[in-house]
Amino acid sequence: GRQWTEVGKLDSGFEAQTVLFRGRLQAKRGKGKLAFLVVRERGFTVQCVLNVKPDVVSPQMVKYATALSTESIIDIEGVVSVPKVPIESTTQKVEVHVTKIYSISNAEPVLPVNIDDAARSETEIVKAEQAGEPVIRVNQDTRLNNRVLDLRTPANQAIFRLQSEVGMFFEQYLRAKDFIALHTPKLMPGSSEGGSAVFKLDYMGTPACLAQSPQLHKQMAICADFGRVYEIGPVFRAERSFTHRHLCEFVGLDVEMEIKEHYSEVMDIVDELFVSMFDSINKNSQKQLEAINRQYPFKPLKYLPRTLRLTFEEGIKMLEEAGVNVDPLGDLNTENERKLGELVKEKYDTEFYILHRYPLAVRPFYTMPCYDNPTYSNSFDVFIRGEEIISGAQRVHEPQLLEKRARELGIDVKTISTYIDAFRYGAPPHGGFGVGLERVVMLFCALNNIRKTSLFPRDPNRLAP
Ligand code: 4AD
Repeated sequence: GRQWTEVGKLDSGFEAQTVLFRGRLQAKRGKGKLAFLVVRERGFTVQCVLNVKPDVVSPQMVKYATALSTESIIDIEGVVSVPKVPIESTTQKVEVHVTKIYSISNAEPVLPVNIDDAARSETEIVKAEQAGEPVIRVNQDTRLNNRVLDLRTPANQAIFRLQSEVGMFFEQYLRAKDFIALHTPKLMPGSSEGGSAVFKLDYMGTPACLAQSPQLHKQMAICADFGRVYEIGPVFRAERSFTHRHLCEFVGLDVEMEIKEHYSEVMDIVDELFVSMFDSINKNSQKQLEAINRQYPFKPLKYLPRTLRLTFEEGIKMLEEAGVNVDPLGDLNTENERKLGELVKEKYDTEFYILHRYPLAVRPFYTMPCYDNPTYSNSFDVFIRGEEIISGAQRVHEPQLLEKRARELGIDVKTISTYIDAFRYGAPPHGGFGVGLERVVMLFCALNNIRKTSLFPRDPNRLAP
């Protein structure tokens, strides 16, 4: 076959050479003897020039090219040149003088979302408005209704490439620490986290639901002697709450491990995993971060080489000292979590920290009470920019206590009897945590809505596309 290249690779190294590549027609202008096309591939763009020249470019060819609808997929063959004045509007700084052009797949002439509009930053929109230029602000519902088009913007391409890096890093790190990947069932006889936020379904005539987390089965895998396990999989929550950070289906990164002495062993994994992940993103994903920044400007995340660990009591004290009224044994609401995030940033210069030793009463039934004071528990949450991305804990591995805790919290013990049984045949002390993948990317890049980091988001109002 012929030698193909990619839009993102076109640079001055190709000067005077003939190249062949495939992309989408993003924009076109000119007619008659001269036309300019912008061709895009995976968020990279290049300018292509059609200039009538006997035996190479006919006027019909220029006419054909300018009649193509934008977003059509085209193959271009042409000669690379380096323009004297660098092109501002494209990612690639070279120009391609087209010798051949083929349309591979035509897009409909009228698109429900124009990619240029969808890719504009708020600053650019405001500027255009002030200059009196016609400008379309694409709202979120329109974007999500036409997600396949919306996903073509450079920022969205970068968001999902970054998300892929986060998942890969998570796996590589854990594998290096002897964790194995498992796949727990998503069809469940009952709730795993307690509460009513489950999607109910009919399982061959028996009431069932979709898994709210891999919690129970990842613990059972520890009882089955796997020692250290992780899973990346879908998590279902029938939450009616319509917020910027809740989805009805999200991607859970889950970890469970044996503990030798203290639940800080679990926090050590969180600490090293995330600090090295942030380092790696900042070092290796510059292109993605820049593309996201161009549309959604954000400040780099502040974090420490060793993650700050505050106890819940210390957190409450900081809030009280700042004049916030809080219940010292209640859960923190979103507003107080954010406030505490600000106080922590001021005092410790970090936007990533662990809050641990939560009151037992606000944690799920499987959480281990503190040995020294059962009002508190061996549990933690982890925050980025004042919002939760992880929750974790040591678990109860003693079946009588587990059953008692479940009953106290009003859980139908029948639906989890096989889970409780798993602890009757020797169960090691263990703990783990769960991370929301969409939240990690959203908060690392300070994006304002979790729908931006979910490929095809599911929320109380959305089941399609
Ligand atoms: O805090 P959650 O509910 O904890 C658990 O599921 C435990 N089984 C984890 C554990 O191992 N102890 O969920 C864990 C994480 C949250 O910190 C958050 O990042 C994310 O999952 N999450 C959601 N993300 C998007 N939409 C939702 N509705 C979410 N609910 C939780």
